[in-house]
Formats: sequence, C-alpha cells, structure tokens
Amino acid sequence: MSFSIKNFPKGAYIYLENSEPSPRSFYIIHQGQVELIREVIRVGVEQKKILGKGDFFGVETAMTGHKRMESAIALMPATLIEVPHDQFRTLITRSTPLAMKIIRSFSMKLREFDTAITNISVEHLNLEEDPSHLFDLGKEWFKSQRFEHAAYAFQKYLQYCPKGTNVSQAKLYLQKMNKPLVPPKIQKQEINRFYAKGQIIFCENEPGDELYIIKKGSVKISKLISGKETILAVLKTGDIFGEMALLDNRPRSATAIAAEDCELAAINRQNFDKLVKEQPIMAERLITLLSERIWTAYRQLANLTIEEPIGRLLDMLLIQVEKEKVPISSKTTYNFGISGEDLLKMVGMDPLKHQEYLVELTKKKYIELDQGVIKCKNLEELEKEVAYYRNRSARKFKKQQRQFA
Ligand code: CMP
Repeated sequence: MSFSIKNFPKGAYIYLENSEPSPRSFYIIHQGQVELIREVIRVGVEQKKILGKGDFFGVETAMTGHKRMESAIALMPATLIEVPHDQFRTLITRSTPLAMKIIRSFSMKLREFDTAITNISVEHLNLEEDPSHLFDLGKEWFKSQRFEHAAYAFQKYLQYCPKGTNVSQAKLYLQKMNKPLVPPKIQKQEINRFYAKGQIIFCENEPGDELYIIKKGSVKISKLISGKETILAVLKTGDIFGEMALLDNRPRSATAIAAEDCELAAINRQNFDKLVKEQPIMAERLITLLSERIWTAYRQLANLTIEEPIGRLLDMLLIQVEKEKVPISSKTTYNFGISGEDLLKMVGMDPLKHQEYLVELTKKKYIELDQGVIKCKNLEELEKEVAYYRNRSARKFKKQQRQFA
C-alpha cells in the first residue's frame, strides 16, 4: 500500500480552496493540527474548523476529482498521512471504524449543507423536522389530488403522532378518501422489497432506520418546498439512498417514490455495520456517492452567495459543466439539455416572474437558446464571467463586513 508521510511547517498551506485536487489524495492527521477554512461560502455552514490527530480531510474532493472545497493550513507543524484516492478501498478494508467515521461525518455534513440551502433559498418554509409535519404534507398532497401519497402521509402521522393535535382531522381526510387508518404492514425482516411505480417508499419527516440499495428500477427523491414538489434527484440501479436518517438518527430529509417498478435491498442499523465490514466496495460506493452530493450542495450554496441574478444563472450553468467534468475550452459547444425555465427553477426563481433574466442571459454572445434548450458556445468565457460575478459579490461582502466591524 503506498501511503506517504508528509510534513508541513506551521502556517503552510496543504491545499487551497477551489484548486484542483492534485495529487488526488486525502489526508489523515498523524500529528499536529490543521485548520480548514471556507472562503467561498460565507453563510449557513461552519466557516472554520480545527482538526487534530486521527481526523481526516479532503476525502470528498479526492474521491470525486472536483476542486477543493476548503483551504487546509497547518496550524502547527503537522505530520500527515497522504492517501491516494485509488488506495481508499484498501484502507477501509483494513479499518472499518475509519469507514464508519467518514460515512457518519459525511452524512452530518450533508445535513448541514441541506439545511443551509433550504434556509437561505426558501422563504416562509416550514422547517419543522418533527413527524407532526407529516400532517401538513398530507394536506398538500390531498390538495394536489395525489390521494395515494396523501393517505400515506396521514397514516404515518397517525402512527407517529397518535396524540397529535390533528389526529381527528387526519382521520377525517382518510375517511374522505376511503383509506384505512393504518398503513399496510411491511415485512421488515425481508431484505428484498418491491415497490410499484408511483408508490411511496418513505416520505420526508418520517423517522427512518433503513437505507436502500436499488437493485432494479429507479427512485425519485423529492421535497415539498413552499407547497411545490422539488425533485432533488432520480436515482438508478446501484444507487443508495436513505442513509441520512439511518446514520444520524434524524427524520427523513426528503421523500422517495418509485419512479419505475423497483426492487430494493433494505439495510437496517445492525446489518449496516456488517455491510461496511464485509463489503468495502459498498462502503466505498456510499462514500463516493456522499462525496458527490456534498460537492453539489457546496456548489449550490456558493451559487447563493452571488448577488446578481444573472451571475447566479451563469454559475448554475457552470455547475452542470463541472458536475459532468466537461473540459473547459473556448472551442466546444456544450448542450445543457435544459430549458430557460428549468434553469430559473434550479436557482429558485419563478419562471413566471423572472423572464427578464432569461432575456439578459441570451444576450450573451456565447449563450444560445436552440429550440428552447440552452447551449454554450464558449465554456472558457462562461467560466471567466462567473469568476467576475463571484469576485464582485465577495468584494462587496468584505466591504460590508469592514463597515460593520
Ligand atoms: P434520508 O434523509 O434518510 O431520506 C431521504 C434521502 O434522500 C436521503 O436520506 C438521501 O439518501 C437522499 N437525498 C437527500 N438529498 C438528496 C440530494 N440532494 N440528492 C440526492 N439524494 C438526496
């Protein structure tokens, strides 16, 4: 195994935020202290963190190849174990506790980002995380005539909040829809689960103690934001979901619905530890998946720190390019495969109210709308302009900070 030991004097930069992960390695602190600093994201998440012996950092970007999401500086002389990303499986095969530590900390980090994004981007949101929110969810789905889903949410509300203030109302809704008061029983001892297209696997705010591996079919992950269903992802065969509630003992952060007929493997707390220990390939897949999600959340949060709406739209396009790891050049034309309306929705703008920004966008020489689909003729130009908007907002923020100091 080729881990190397690296020594850094006090004050030395181990890597800089927004730089390519080169080498594509992560670090475990053998001795000393390291400070992680985020400059790009200025609100919502921890800005600084001090790490000590046994802690690790840089895993997400080593595993995904995306640019570093923080700067790492030696606070005192530090001795680090540098682990190349392709040695990761060997490492977790040797140390299950390390794999568990990484998985748990990633899950918490993802939750922190998730909360920050929702808090910043959505006004008047009911951020309640407790199961009583299931009742509101049921009402929203009832309103939009999704009766199967509404029934599920009301049944779960009755199950988890039997003394809740809305119990009699929830029962009334269920009677109106001719649905039983209790959900159908799931044979929890069965690992293999089958869901028909459109069926709810679980819904947001419900307590959860299982994660799922998709063996066949696809699953839609969504969240009701200000009464509107926002799709976070469509997951396919081989993907894993539901790990967040399992790992940090909090309610489900989103709803999972079978997008096709599905076969899932359900893993509970007891056999999760066994899975990590006996199948390092699964642990590696889960860590890579969480790394990719953390990176997306980091970029979404960075996007929200750009003040000008047009800057946010351009940056959202750049996020798609970075996500797909498309080489940035001035020559290639890139088809985003999304409409202007989709783009507005992706940055939380209402397509009915903000058409003027789309007009402004298409005035850019390197952007074109081809049969309603956005294309970029010069990715280098796109990247440069995003840097301009990003720097402008950062300067303004620093100026405001100085005024308040
Ligand atoms: P959990 O919170 O247990 O339940 C909802 C699941 O959806 C969550 O775990 C993750 O597995 C998954 N999830 C949450 N947010 C996202 C996202 N932005 N993209 C993809 N999957 C997500």
